[in-house]
Amino acid sequence: MAEKFYVTTPIYYVNAEPHIGHAYTTVVADVLNRFHTLCGTETFFLTGTDEHGDKIVAAAEKAGETPKQYVDRISQLFRDLWPKMHISNNYFIRTTDPDHQQVVQLILNKVKENGDIYFSEYEGLYCFGCERFYTERELVDGKCPDHLTEPTVIKEANYFFRMSRYQDWLIDHINKYPDFIRPERYRNEVLSFLKEPLEDLCISRPRSRLTWGIPLPFDENFVTYVWFDALINYVSALGYPEGELFTRFWPVAQHIIAKDILKPHGIYWPCMLKSAGIAPYQHLNVHGYWNVNEGKMSKSLGNVVRPLDLMDIYGLDAFRYFLLRDMVFGLDSEFSEEALVNRINADLANDLGNLVSRSVSMVRKYFRGNIPGQGNPQEMDDQLRTKTLDLVEQYQSFMLELGFHKALMAVWEIIGDVNKYIDTTAPWVLAKSDKGRLETVMYHIFEALKAISVLIWPFMPASAEKMQQQIGLKRYEKPISIERIRQWGELPFVRPVEKAPALFPRIEAKEKEKGPHVMQSNETPEAIKEMIDFETFERMDLRVGTIKAAEAIPKSNKLVKLTVDIGEERTVVAGIAKHYAPEDLNGKQVIIVANLKPVKLMGVESRGMVLAAEDDSGVHVLMPDNETVPGSKVR
Ligand code: MSP
Repeated sequence: MAEKFYVTTPIYYVNAEPHIGHAYTTVVADVLNRFHTLCGTETFFLTGTDEHGDKIVAAAEKAGETPKQYVDRISQLFRDLWPKMHISNNYFIRTTDPDHQQVVQLILNKVKENGDIYFSEYEGLYCFGCERFYTERELVDGKCPDHLTEPTVIKEANYFFRMSRYQDWLIDHINKYPDFIRPERYRNEVLSFLKEPLEDLCISRPRSRLTWGIPLPFDENFVTYVWFDALINYVSALGYPEGELFTRFWPVAQHIIAKDILKPHGIYWPCMLKSAGIAPYQHLNVHGYWNVNEGKMSKSLGNVVRPLDLMDIYGLDAFRYFLLRDMVFGLDSEFSEEALVNRINADLANDLGNLVSRSVSMVRKYFRGNIPGQGNPQEMDDQLRTKTLDLVEQYQSFMLELGFHKALMAVWEIIGDVNKYIDTTAPWVLAKSDKGRLETVMYHIFEALKAISVLIWPFMPASAEKMQQQIGLKRYEKPISIERIRQWGELPFVRPVEKAPALFPRIEAKEKEKGPHVMQSNETPEAIKEMIDFETFERMDLRVGTIKAAEAIPKSNKLVKLTVDIGEERTVVAGIAKHYAPEDLNGKQVIIVANLKPVKLMGVESRGMVLAAEDDSGVHVLMPDNETVPGSKVR
């Protein structure tokens, strides 16, 4: 693990108020920042706002303000939101900061001196929404794929960045460092884009058309293209070229973005860095989109999910937990308030909350709140310790590879184990029969609780600290490190355990009716509707299949095309793309309904169906628990 860690979010455009998408990326960065702090790493965390360009001017005009008044006001909304969400950023950058503007000009000069900037007349298809030129190839049905509008033909003289010069270098770099862009699907996307010749990048806008931007240092008649300006924030915030922070934290940078801005970060930015003589960043971490009602959030559809509303109703930590538990990093997720409530009630109130409150009340009752020593551990106590420490290690590796939901599942496995350990050891019986054994049991419960409280801290810092307070840990100046919990038993409990209110109260039906983001119904699982006889069941041909190839179906965020060996080769289209990345399916064994009538889905003929179970946490494909001969019948 690097000894230093530098994490960034995109700098958000100030033409929209913060929504759940911005909140997700920023919480991810915060969780990583806190996790690395727990590992004893020196960290730096940057976020901020992107304030130049056509879009901002248009939004300011619409609001009846000057661009400056407008950007000051909206930037402040982001700046005010992050502390409310316990975001631990060290710095907040604005592209209108004079220091940033100077660095942009410095880098433009460097790139020009390197022979990578030239002036040329250009006619191209321009999307004002994206603020960039499109090639014919990139358009979908002649329209911008993001804004679904036809681009405008613009002919003008501009400055260009000779990006094409770095194409081969970039391909080599990506191949040499396979986790430069991750998860793999986004690396592949960039590589496939780089299969075509890379065009040079138009990096100026004439002042006659746009004045709200950073002037080119070598031609006052032009301002800098907003992306060339914005990307540089990642080094200007560190005081490039000579700032102390820059020397400390570059190039260990890890950028967090969503898939919408993969191209500027995966292609423009490394080429810009190379041309300016700056080492490339370490990782580009790309996540999917939060959708609402199966589609994009948009003001006009009125389905924008605002973080403050949800935090007010459900509590900040529950919201943070939900964001990280319900999205598989890299894949899209559907936002649903019902899923949020279920997570709170099941994982937080039931599993974790109950565990803490039952443990606290037992130690108060049997030992006046003082956690006893370990006594003579038996095999099952040792098992709890080794399994917990093993899960701590798993948690750490999941976190390093951005598997946040898996890291949380590992913590919840510890929670489940301790709950089971309590049920099996039955301290209430031991209290009457074997005080010595009771001591050992209580000791182990509280050591495991200590570990849990540390592992949840990156996700839910306030609740973790509350829990540590409740279980009798002192409030230390620095958060308790992972190393300390690995030294089981080393960190003392210094105060009697406190009786305290529930960490996560259940969300009851009447509370759910409070706000605007409220579930409409409290559906119960579907009842079994009809009985069938064995012969009817036997008509279904269920087979074990081995997935030989899996690929995403272009333009579908739900479907994935599978080539499956069920004794013969079949193409099966499955609606599981939101829950599984194709690369994770390769080689897996699944259960196929082999005699389903073929259907065409998004132009691909599907001959069969994959069986999967669905619950609140998502879709889970059924897989045999041991390698089975492909084509074996399932009964
Ligand atoms: N200003 C540029 C970024 C420049 S970085 C040098 C920009 N800003 S943005 O306000 O549009 O923010 C885009 C980012 O916001 C996404 O990459 C993602 O981090 C976050 N999200 C916006 N909508 C989102 C979802 N619906 N779901 C998840 N995250 C999304 O692009």
